[in-house]
Amino acid sequence: MRSHYNGDLLKVTAGEEVTVAGWVHRRRDLGGLIFLQVRDKSGIVQIVIEPDQPDLFAQAENLRSEFVVSLTGKVRNRPENMINKDMVTGTIEILASDLTVLNKAIPPAILIDGHQDVSEELRLKHRYLDLRRPEMQEKLLFRNKVAKNLRDYLEAESFTDIETPILTKATPEGARDYLVPSRTNKGSFFALPQSPQLFKQLLMMSGFDRYYQIVRCFRDEDLRADRQPEFTQLDIETSFMDEEAIMSMMEKMIRQLFIKTLDVDLGDFPRMPYAEAMQRYGSDKPDLRVAIELVDCAGLLKEVEFKVFSAPANDANGRVAAICVPGGAELSRKQIDQYTEYAGRYGAKGLAWVKVKEIGKGIEGVQSPIAKFLNDEIVNAILERTGAAAGDILLFGADSSKVVTDSLGALRLKVAEDRGLVEDVWKPLWVVDFPMFEQDKGQMHALHHPFTAPQVNDVEQLKAAPTETLSRAYDMVLNGCEVGGGSVRIHNQEIQAAIFDILGIEKQEAEEKFGFLLEALKYGCPPHGGIAFGMDRLVMLMVGADSIRDVIAFPKTTTASCPLTSAPSRVSQAQLEELAIASTAKEKTE
Ligand code: AMO
Ligand code: AMP
Repeated sequence: MRSHYNGDLLKVTAGEEVTVAGWVHRRRDLGGLIFLQVRDKSGIVQIVIEPDQPDLFAQAENLRSEFVVSLTGKVRNRPENMINKDMVTGTIEILASDLTVLNKAIPPAILIDGHQDVSEELRLKHRYLDLRRPEMQEKLLFRNKVAKNLRDYLEAESFTDIETPILTKATPEGARDYLVPSRTNKGSFFALPQSPQLFKQLLMMSGFDRYYQIVRCFRDEDLRADRQPEFTQLDIETSFMDEEAIMSMMEKMIRQLFIKTLDVDLGDFPRMPYAEAMQRYGSDKPDLRVAIELVDCAGLLKEVEFKVFSAPANDANGRVAAICVPGGAELSRKQIDQYTEYAGRYGAKGLAWVKVKEIGKGIEGVQSPIAKFLNDEIVNAILERTGAAAGDILLFGADSSKVVTDSLGALRLKVAEDRGLVEDVWKPLWVVDFPMFEQDKGQMHALHHPFTAPQVNDVEQLKAAPTETLSRAYDMVLNGCEVGGGSVRIHNQEIQAAIFDILGIEKQEAEEKFGFLLEALKYGCPPHGGIAFGMDRLVMLMVGADSIRDVIAFPKTTTASCPLTSAPSRVSQAQLEELAIASTAKEKTE
């Protein structure tokens, strides 16, 4: 059916007979000649059908887009003026002598050829057509290349690929679980893994020393452009390595990946403590392509008459900070209102601004709705601290530390994107020194997960000041996206029990949920640690896609459903009864 892929035709000498197979990409009838473009996974080739073979010609006249064909003919060089530089095979064409229609096709529901604005819903419904598009093929072929490169690196470093269960017990990564009812143990449920976290730790306790797996993880959480309910991790765990050794090995892996697949050297990754990332960038995954930073101004505003500023400036849990937008003095009222609304999504109650007209003129040199609360001295000090220049605008947040950090952190990215202030470079970094816990309404949560080792190893010290304790966790961040996260783990049963205690997990609950881990820790557990990379996110960044759905063959929509298969779907009453399940969503199950 085929002697060559289209992509290999350039290696063939002119005059040789070849057979290609694929889909009719385009058909053009030109003054008695028919030009066909035939597409396979390696690219497109042009085929010429001349009228001196009437049967063949008549057959070709009946071809339509997306018919599946096999064509035989002689390869010939195209005349100089007919060379198409945009085509892999643009210097040659095939003069056809034989054509077989392997299958007909109805007109495609979405065009494969050319650009067309179709809804994502339609693209996902007919994903097999969408995936025929060369740009989609390229992305998935690139994804395969990334996976192979990472496997090769890890295998060379003595890592072993080991599979872990999909039908398992809840793993605490902070999202909701997907549950699977058990037929043989009625009323009991498996949970799909949010990650193989506990199993990879058990593999270290089993003596495998270095483990990896390209593995599906399931999290029932609110979806965004960079999140899917099922996604793929490159999951890694090592024994007898500390955080320095793990980070260095992983950085090397990602650096060589970029060099080999994109010809980009990311250089050495800087390290940034979590506290600094929040302070300067208002985010635990700072996008270092944007130069704008959050500048704290509370110290200058403690005495002003404007309560909105002075109250948080004098409150230990408050924050008053500004971002300086270069050239932003040209922003209109309407644009400022839009940014105020945007900051409001993160809890900001307003967005005070100062437009800088002239430097060194104090209050005379600026324009601001809060000018009446400021004086020359304060204005000059703010301008100096923020490094503002004439023509810039300062946007202020004043509120609880969390609201100011979150809202200005998000606004800095939004304004930079709108105004073309995102540098076209790769900016990786490690974020380190995360707090162990965060407190929300009196309840402690693990910032990473409850198996992460603290920087202090003393149970008493840990219990005395849990919120001040830092962890041995690290995140790899690339262009403002968290591509991977991991930590050194607790390998000591007492510390693990103390962490559960701080998290408010009762002894009995800890025993029920993680008893197997606590027990395993008593049987000689090596020091261990690891990391997991979000493969979809990594590939999304590398190919420059806007959404991880573009690098997943069959993704879910933002409502966690699949338009192609119509999953999730109703099941029969008999099936439910067999599983001893009654649904309360009557209208959906009846
Ligand atoms: P974490 O929860 O940080 O760590 O996940 C690791 C990486 O997985 C990616 N990721 C996702 N990608 C797409 N859709 C999602 N819903 C999604 N959630 C997470 C991110 C993230 O950095 N067991 C630990 C790892 C460890 O400690 O070794 C874990 O799962 O890129
Ligand atoms: P007002 O006195 O409420 O009219 O506010 C005066 C200016 O302060 C307006 O530009 C508001 O957007 C801004 N503002 C109000 N509340 C805050 C806040 N919490 N943080 C920053 N700016 C604010």
